[in-house]
Amino acid sequence: MIRARPIPAYTATPTGTGDQGDVHSEMAPPVPVVSRRRYDFGLMSKVTAPGIRSRKGGPKIAVVTAYDFPGAVIADRAGIDMILVGDSVANVVHGMDTTLEIGLDEIVLHTRAVKRAKPNALVVADMPWLTFHLGEEDTVRNAGRLVREGGAEAVKLEGGRKRLPVIEAILDAEIPVMGHVGLTPQSVHAMGGFKVQGKVVDAAREMIEDAKALSDVGCFSIVIEGVPDILGELITKEVDAPTIGIGAGPSTDGQVLVFHDVLGLGDGNYPKFVRPYASLADEAVAALERFKADIQKGSFPGDDESYHVTDEIAAELLKDS
Ligand code: KIV
Repeated sequence: MIRARPIPAYTATPTGTGDQGDVHSEMAPPVPVVSRRRYDFGLMSKVTAPGIRSRKGGPKIAVVTAYDFPGAVIADRAGIDMILVGDSVANVVHGMDTTLEIGLDEIVLHTRAVKRAKPNALVVADMPWLTFHLGEEDTVRNAGRLVREGGAEAVKLEGGRKRLPVIEAILDAEIPVMGHVGLTPQSVHAMGGFKVQGKVVDAAREMIEDAKALSDVGCFSIVIEGVPDILGELITKEVDAPTIGIGAGPSTDGQVLVFHDVLGLGDGNYPKFVRPYASLADEAVAALERFKADIQKGSFPGDDESYHVTDEIAAELLKDS
């Protein structure tokens, strides 16, 4: 008989018609999706941009990138506050050298996948390079695609005061905006590489002014990336919007890390500010090695991992052989 298989927590509930041709038939009762169970008990409610804005000085905000459905389910099960569909997907998922190579269509696609997890976490989509540099109308159209086609609940864009006109235009279209100052990877060539920013007094003061302007114009939060800890602290004190640090020291209102870094899914070559909380790449390699060994030994699949017919049908079929 067809064996009832456990299904992963994030698998959509199968219809299970009992039809012998349906591999999902005779399944175990569907496993409840943990993130939805939280709704049932009313323990967590949907995180919103105004909700994040109101958390200045409150409980620290935990943010992680996610680029697909299972990543979003995992982040949401962990109670992460905000999921950023970052343009870091270029490096982490697509193996590109810089974030300059990823376009709007790809971010829309990844955002849609994240949104299918229906996370409690606020879903913020990154605006790729050149999608907010060609004027306000073009910028609003691009931000609108992330919301309408991707389902994003807010957008993030890199840059300080010179981006105020486009930020105002997006806000005017009722789309919440997250700012991003410091080491802005889309400026890699202008910065002369991925270098810690704000290490000299003038640059640090400029960055504080940039962050204040982003906060004052209405950004609901601001990412501060790759700056000395004291600058992370000063900006956090100076601005009303909650700051989310990455390589900006411990004083920001929240922290963000890339999903693959925090889970140890990379090659082990992590920047100084990353703390890998697991070694999933090593575990995945070991698991696949065991899988390969079992195939070669002939011990996979086993009897209970195979489909069967009744003894009568088996006997009939064997007569032919
Ligand atoms: O794209 C990204 O992942 C980011 C975070 C590092 C803030 O912008």
